[in-house]
Amino acid sequence: MPESFYFEPVEPVLRRFVEDFRNVVAREGGTPGLLPALKGPAETLLQDTSWITEAQRQAVPGTTATWALYRSQEPDLCIFTMVVAPGEMTKVHNHLTDGWVGLVQGEQIERKFRRFDNGARPGYADIRLVEEERIPLGGLTSIRHPDEDIHQILTMSREASVSLHVLCNDLGTVARQSFDPDTHEATTFVSGYTNVDGASNINR
Ligand SMILES: [Fe+2]
Repeated sequence: MPESFYFEPVEPVLRRFVEDFRNVVAREGGTPGLLPALKGPAETLLQDTSWITEAQRQAVPGTTATWALYRSQEPDLCIFTMVVAPGEMTKVHNHLTDGWVGLVQGEQIERKFRRFDNGARPGYADIRLVEEERIPLGGLTSIRHPDEDIHQILTMSREASVSLHVLCNDLGTVARQSFDPDTHEATTFVSGYTNVDGASNINR
């Protein structure tokens, strides 16, 4: 039986976040004010993370695990944990939306990239590293499409790093890109979620 993620979540803190998100979208939807207005609710979500289960902190060695906690039907909101095993890193990738990411276990380095070509050549991207930052436990970072949307995450701790994502799309179902900054290759992929069968159980 596949899990469904677009009912109201059971955990009170997650439920409260979804309510806050709906209020913020009603007020700021489609404006540049949306991301800043979501910061407070994202911080509240991160203040007590004891409700995140062991299963949602599980690494899958050799790949980046993503455990869906909530996906809205619209789809304008997904909440998931991303788990990167010790010594491993994600691909350089984009998200094609805005959102907040908070570190709830371990330590990470975030490499931020910028794209310098106009995207006209299929399979090609001129991606360059612009910043590298150590993310401490509890650290909150933003993702903002298109200028602050490309990054790579490396786990620096002896335990897996776990970050809670709140993004304004259904990321696991979105055709997006990974990048090789050295060869300039851009590859389109759909990440899915580790705990959702196929691309989706809600027909997308
Ligand atoms: Fe990411």
